[in-house]
Amino acid sequence: MVMEPILEVRDLHTSFLTSNGEVQAVRGVSFDVEKGKTLGIVGESGSGKSVTSLSILQLLGVTGKVTAGSIRLGGEELTTKSRKEMRAIRGERIAMIFQDPMTSLNPLIPLGDQVGEMLWEHHRKMSKEERREKVLELFRMVRIPEPEKRMKSYPHEFSGGMRQRVMIAMALACRPDLLIADEPTTALDVSIQDQILKLMRSLQKEMGMSIMFITHDLGVVAELCDRVAVMYGGLIMEEADIIDIFQRPMHPYTLGLMASIPDMNQDKGKLLQPIPGSPPDMIHPPKGCPFAPRCPYAMRICTEEMPPCVATGETRRSMCWLLDPEAPAEGNPLKQRKEGIA
Ligand SMILES: Nc1ncnc2c1ncn2[C@@H]1O[C@H](COP(=O)(O)OP(=O)(O)OP(=O)(O)O)[C@@H](O)[C@H]1O
Ligand SMILES: [Mg+2]
Repeated sequence: MVMEPILEVRDLHTSFLTSNGEVQAVRGVSFDVEKGKTLGIVGESGSGKSVTSLSILQLLGVTGKVTAGSIRLGGEELTTKSRKEMRAIRGERIAMIFQDPMTSLNPLIPLGDQVGEMLWEHHRKMSKEERREKVLELFRMVRIPEPEKRMKSYPHEFSGGMRQRVMIAMALACRPDLLIADEPTTALDVSIQDQILKLMRSLQKEMGMSIMFITHDLGVVAELCDRVAVMYGGLIMEEADIIDIFQRPMHPYTLGLMASIPDMNQDKGKLLQPIPGSPPDMIHPPKGCPFAPRCPYAMRICTEEMPPCVATGETRRSMCWLLDPEAPAEGNPLKQRKEGIA
């Protein structure tokens, strides 16, 4: 079956002009989000995950700019759209949910009215009664108990998890083609986080929408995503189907991230093992692989030249010098894996 992408991002470059210089936050990123599927974007803090999504939405503020590349939604180029055109696309065709619902909700307006306002903005012809019914339906859809009563509540009367459900209801109000969720569960307790992920998964099945899910947590990705792109230093280091990446990671950075996933059997509260070292300075990014200074397998070429992007299977790729045909085979974890030895 040929997959049809709803979103196609090609060679995206995004920078911010700051008093210290140009921050090259995204440096040539390409990926697709297929219809009805979930793409996870993972990577440590500062890797360019949020800037990638904000570039799609054209929400980069006055200092940010997409400097090169193409972003197509259903075949339509977004980078050349006007502000007005983008406003219509946001909310109607692409919806978003962020980490902290409190910053997106008005504390003085009952939650039901806020969801209703969202509907009104995009469906001016809806009557008041129809709108109320639709809000009720959305509250039920995101499994908010006693929706008639809770519609009249204010944001502070809701728990974090319930507020995030309202944000999801708002995002779904216009039946978007694509939902971008940027760390929507990071601020929540693990059990609540799990409920929200399950909710998103079942809503996606019901509505057939596509999701781009941003997180620094590979465990969350495992639960929700069909595919995953692993970002570091403004680049996609590895992209693969979810099963493939967990069964056989093909990039030293992915291997490092996997080692920092908590083991379910481990004592609760035990600290994760982070990858030693820190992310690159994006004003002066290294000319070679950004991960080289932290990579246990780094060779000289890694710090000197940008690594090649190599197919590591029919539907996967990695950006790593270890996969170059001329890279040594001995002690090379990726070559062994590629040949199916490891
Ligand atoms: N408005 C801005 N002005 C200047 N630099 C920015 C701005 N927004 C992001 N950056 C920089 O761009 C880079 C990528 O940031 P981004 O927010 O995309 O990271 P992230 O992967 O989402 O991280 P996190 O997991 O912490 O959310 C970082 O170096 C960050 O400091
Ligand atoms: Mg972010």
